[in-house]
Amino acid sequence: MLQRPRRNRKSKAIRDLIAETSLQKNNLIYPLFLVNGENKKTEIDSMPNCYRWSIDLLLHEIEDCIKLGLNNFALFPAVEDNLKDKEATYSYHHDNFYLQAINTIKNKFPNITLMSDVAMDPYSSDGHDGYVENGEIINDKTLPILAKMAVAQAQAGIDIIGPSDMMDGRVGVIREALDQNGFTNTSIMSYTAKYASSFYGPFRDALDSAPKSGDKKTYQMDPRNKKEALIEAELDEFEGADFLMVKPALSYLDVIHCLKEQTDLPISAYNVSGEYAMIHAAAQNGWLDYEKTYMEVLTSIKRAGADIILTYFAKDFAKLKS
Ligand code: PBG
Repeated sequence: MLQRPRRNRKSKAIRDLIAETSLQKNNLIYPLFLVNGENKKTEIDSMPNCYRWSIDLLLHEIEDCIKLGLNNFALFPAVEDNLKDKEATYSYHHDNFYLQAINTIKNKFPNITLMSDVAMDPYSSDGHDGYVENGEIINDKTLPILAKMAVAQAQAGIDIIGPSDMMDGRVGVIREALDQNGFTNTSIMSYTAKYASSFYGPFRDALDSAPKSGDKKTYQMDPRNKKEALIEAELDEFEGADFLMVKPALSYLDVIHCLKEQTDLPISAYNVSGEYAMIHAAAQNGWLDYEKTYMEVLTSIKRAGADIILTYFAKDFAKLKS
């Protein structure tokens, strides 16, 4: 045998020498959940070690993460039912605790990257990402609401707008609204290929944001499709997105790879709540090794072509690497 591939695996040093994929803290975005009020920290049942934080305690948590070397965060609000309505008006209300929190966080930690969520579902009495009329999600009535939400977040000081709603044309409408209001430096990370997935279950528990009726299949993508992701990517790039995202990550590694080949924009992947919950559940049963399994998962997402990973494992990863 002239070729013995095992020679390149014979020691840890050699394996490290030839490793094709490396995972860094600065490639990660840590998603965090915010609730209204003070002195609140409630664990999310289906997401061990993830909490809904009030802003006062969240500031300490972010400080902790910064000390561990994490500098990028995505913030999601859990909104009380009495603040929800059909038009999601609370999303851009000047008293909105989410917008105030963005402002407070960015004032205290100007050097971090903070990313938002733009979609109607946290604020909608229908629990859908778009405007609902007779059971239908109306695309073009949703767009101006998303634009208002994005501008309000930009005013609060957000670094990256994260449209997660999957309405057609929203990246363009948001880009235009941001520019018209002077926010030419506010970035957009589009949820480009967001699939109608069962892996969002724990997240919807965390935010109490599940649809009140129906499902999200008329706007989120069909898991059977890959070429459709290329159409979405082309549109988002054309409409002015700065980053393209694939979501979920693990069951869609082929889509991540495909998008990475098509575009020169940075690609991100959202390692979602259900992917996090699965590993925790198996580890709690003693069926999988927690650390080794999530490391393998994150590595596979990077290897598939993601430059950036949004993951609830970020803090554990950062601790491990400190
Ligand atoms: C809602 C939104 C969802 C997630 C991020 N933004 C859920 C959904 O579309 O129902 C899911 C994130 C996760 O599961 O970790 N616009």
